[in-house]
Amino acid sequence: MFPEINRIYALEPKEKPQDEGKLGFGQVFTDHMFEMDYVSGKGWINPTIKPYGPLLMDPSCMILHYGQGVFEGMKAYRRPDGGISLFRPQLNFERLNLSNHRLGIPQIDETFMLHALVELLKVEQDWVPHTEGASLYIRPFIIATDVHLGVHVSKTYKYMVILSPSGAYYSQGMAPVNIYIEDEYIRAVRGGTGEAKCPGNYAASLLAQLEAEGKGYVQVLWLDGIEKKYIEEVGSMNVFFVIDDELVTPALNGSVLHGITRRSVIEMAQHWGIKVSERRIAVAELIEAGKAGRISEAFGSGTAAVISPIGEILYEDQSLVFNNGETGPLAQRLYDKLTGLQFGKSEDELGWTYQVT
Ligand code: COI
Repeated sequence: MFPEINRIYALEPKEKPQDEGKLGFGQVFTDHMFEMDYVSGKGWINPTIKPYGPLLMDPSCMILHYGQGVFEGMKAYRRPDGGISLFRPQLNFERLNLSNHRLGIPQIDETFMLHALVELLKVEQDWVPHTEGASLYIRPFIIATDVHLGVHVSKTYKYMVILSPSGAYYSQGMAPVNIYIEDEYIRAVRGGTGEAKCPGNYAASLLAQLEAEGKGYVQVLWLDGIEKKYIEEVGSMNVFFVIDDELVTPALNGSVLHGITRRSVIEMAQHWGIKVSERRIAVAELIEAGKAGRISEAFGSGTAAVISPIGEILYEDQSLVFNNGETGPLAQRLYDKLTGLQFGKSEDELGWTYQVT
């Protein structure tokens, strides 16, 4: 039996976006959010669905100073029959607890998090877009709330879930992006927090992202933090290359995010009989293979980005263009299959979808 969820309903619902084709990403928020507190000795208490609104926080809250927090990203999709689905949501809550562990945050019952999300989505079901390509982005997150400037593990936390009707993550939609291989700054090292989904990893990426944008590139591809020789992941995506007839992606080495779309790409490609290899990929190998014409396509994967083709990468002064800068056939096939599953238009032979309504 789950604890009862308190409910406080918004008095005046907001106006829904007029044009779902122009939503952008993470700019509009729904009427309600979920909130639950952790107090040492009592556990996770006060689960509540309440009106979306600002938090009242003490300026000395630990999250504001030391960044003890974690988050997740997932989506709710509208099916042709009008119902709402999630995609492998159990994996997000499993990963949230992995991130919690790395940040010293208490574990949360994964089945309760899913139950609470379903209850929130039932309240907000009219906010799930009906337009093709748009979905309701779900952002669960946890912040440390102790009022204290000492550097230690907090004794109190807030777990929250906010919802944002969203379109494509990249403004150009599914069109290929260009990526800058970062050889000065690093994002993560083994033993650090690279495989946790925590705000600090993203904070560490922002300057490099800003500089890459200044050079005309959309995102940064990170190299390993020790030798700066091996590729790891892109700002908001895991990364894949088709080298010869093999789909290749960096192995989960402790500093790469355990992407759920990454895992789904690997499992789906294997299901289709495609050879997949998770291994160390040296940037030198990539450049050599690219110049020899052995890389037929490249793409990123992520909840927000879905499957995002990569048209070009730049490393120092060497540029590689994949598939003439156009979306490759495997990226397109994976995009069609994953979005087909998510939006309830494709046969779910692997049992990945979860029906909310
Ligand atoms: C996601 O893909 O859901 C992410 O969390 C990546 C990014 C938007 C931070």
